[in-house]
Amino acid sequence: MRAHPEHPSSLASLGDALRLVHSKRSLKQAVLALLHGTGGLVYPEALKSQSPVEPYYERLAEAGLVAASKEGVWTLTESGRQVGTYLAQCEADDELDLMFSRLECQGDSVFLDLGCGAGPALLKASELSTPPQWMIGIDIDRSSLVAADAALGGHRPHCLLIQADLSALPIRDGAVTHVSSRLSLPYVDQRASLAELGRIMAPGSKVFLQVHSVRFYLRLLWDERHQWKRVILNGFCLLNGVIFALFGVQLKVPSRHGLYQELYQTSGGMAKILQRLGIAILWSERDRLFRIFGKKTGV
Ligand SMILES: C[S@@+](CC[C@H](N)C(=O)[O-])C[C@H]1O[C@@H](n2cnc3c(N)ncnc32)[C@H](O)[C@@H]1O
Repeated sequence: MRAHPEHPSSLASLGDALRLVHSKRSLKQAVLALLHGTGGLVYPEALKSQSPVEPYYERLAEAGLVAASKEGVWTLTESGRQVGTYLAQCEADDELDLMFSRLECQGDSVFLDLGCGAGPALLKASELSTPPQWMIGIDIDRSSLVAADAALGGHRPHCLLIQADLSALPIRDGAVTHVSSRLSLPYVDQRASLAELGRIMAPGSKVFLQVHSVRFYLRLLWDERHQWKRVILNGFCLLNGVIFALFGVQLKVPSRHGLYQELYQTSGGMAKILQRLGIAILWSERDRLFRIFGKKTGV
């Protein structure tokens, strides 16, 4: 597939374009519709690939979002990387089903998604047979919130989208009955953000967390062993996880996007912190995914 340099990024103003898409069904459909018009959507789930974006490379190229493609190596434009990220976030339908089957939101629930990204969990919550009364999505990244805004479409009036850091939540103590955080905790200040999680949860409220185990970064280290920058990055996350597990200290280094502090979590470490916050772990798994479901029993 040839890149289309003559078709400059049709998603240069991704925010405006996404606003035009009011999908009632899913964010993936919204993004794909944006790439290619509303008809003839193709679902390449059957394809097995390392990158969740890989099945969409040809469509991204047709939309002018591939800067170059040579010998199977695709280089996306900046907007392409952004759209790719949103597409990847939509590949989680089964995981979201399981999460909401555990959370059991009610019609009067207040659901908060920490690090909501482009809003897949918020959209899923709004499509439950009994959706929560209110939904709140918090993320530090503005463009993700713009995508979530567009994807929520008709559900938007029931959802508050806030740009904030998870280490300082603009939410009242005990205001939330159901919380999720899917793959955002590895990137944040552990102590401050988990303390905030405990603070905003009401007694009896439920929480579902998906984090990264050490195996996640070991696999990345192996898969990306030929890219020296990625080796350094993955090595940093591993080292940071070890230091945090042993000494409770999280390394933070300045980067283009602020402080970089990514790490892996351990079952023991998470159990200790959650227990301190008055959150009992009711279920967890550390298989392919590292997921924890708990309930605030009170402090
Ligand atoms: C891997 S994405 C996951 C997005 C979404 N939860 C999902 O399930 O697809 C991680 C998200 O965490 C957000 N994030 C990272 N650091 C953050 C911080 N300090 N405060 C708030 N959000 C943060 C990122 O902007 C990104 O949207």
